[in-house]
Amino acid sequence: MKVTVVGAGAVGASCAEYIAIKDFAAEVVLLDIKEGYAEGKAMDLMQTASLNGFDTKITGSTNDYSKTANSDIVVITSGIPRKPGMTREELIGINAGIVKTVATNLLEHSPNATVIVVSNPMDTMTYLVHKATGLPRNKIIGMGGALDSARFKYRLAEALDAPISDVDGMVIGGHSDTGMVPLIAHATRNSIKVSEFLSEEKMQWVVEETKVGGATLTKLLGTSAWYAPGAAVSGLVQAIACDQKKMFPCSTLLEGEYDLDDICIGVPVILGKNGIEKIVEIELTDAEKAKMQESAEGVKKTNGLLDV
Ligand SMILES: NC(=O)c1ccc[n+]([C@@H]2O[C@H](COP(=O)([O-])OP(=O)(O)OC[C@H]3O[C@@H](n4cnc5c(N)ncnc54)[C@H](O)[C@@H]3O)[C@@H](O)[C@H]2O)c1
Repeated sequence: MKVTVVGAGAVGASCAEYIAIKDFAAEVVLLDIKEGYAEGKAMDLMQTASLNGFDTKITGSTNDYSKTANSDIVVITSGIPRKPGMTREELIGINAGIVKTVATNLLEHSPNATVIVVSNPMDTMTYLVHKATGLPRNKIIGMGGALDSARFKYRLAEALDAPISDVDGMVIGGHSDTGMVPLIAHATRNSIKVSEFLSEEKMQWVVEETKVGGATLTKLLGTSAWYAPGAAVSGLVQAIACDQKKMFPCSTLLEGEYDLDDICIGVPVILGKNGIEKIVEIELTDAEKAKMQESAEGVKKTNGLLDV
């Protein structure tokens, strides 16, 4: 199992670290455009191997895609992150060019790879990778919902004053401050709906804090977060690499599912060795359906800025 991560910045390096610590991949290649940067991160991470007890080999490359050849999974984190006060959508001007070039270079050397798109605005970047590569839809996965769901569970546990392992919940829709649809009506504590424990007001607080989860961290850190994004990507990579058939909300090209077409947006999917093995269509409440449609309109508006 060979995994390439393009962009050895905050999210890319965190993702490589979590993949290595979980010790399921033979090799992780980090690639960055900045001279020596990926090599340095790879060497630093390799020096944690004896301490953390993993055998995954991590190598770095400055923009030499031959080193990424025959990767099974490729992860695109290259591009600029947002600064405090910015929306993810504002990154499109710079990131679209980077993501398109990187995806083309990667697939030239690994035509059978499954692609995970992380760079923002992620749903639109995932759509761009479809347009730029023509890969089948099961092979292109946008990571956003796995992270947003982890943030949702964090806030649910806080509101319930419960351990995180007690709670379950999922966020679908667009990966944006306004587009996320945290499925609060479906969220549970040990299979009991959270509405049994929380007031309407508290549930609304959870939903709103989840939606601005990324912005809250960007304000605190001065740049976008990396631990939870890296962990979320590593979860997707592991599900595919180990054929786990796990369900995550991921951005995928919809062709009629959820009454949406020609758009990449977050919905529950099953991940296994073939990438997206199934799109799971769940019954949404009328309010959730309306929010999903509104979210899709926002993503389509951003897609309209692409030159494809
Ligand atoms: N989808 C999500 O849930 C999620 C979560 C967090 C961050 N992000 C996004 O991920 C991206 C990366 O964030 P970060 O915090 O790691 O940023 P960062 O600046 O720390 O790292 C980005 C790296 O990309 C490299 N890069 C730029 N152009 C490149 C190219 N053409 N080829 C190869 N490498 C190139 C840069 O040199 C840099 O090292 C941002 O767009 C951010 O918004 C997405």
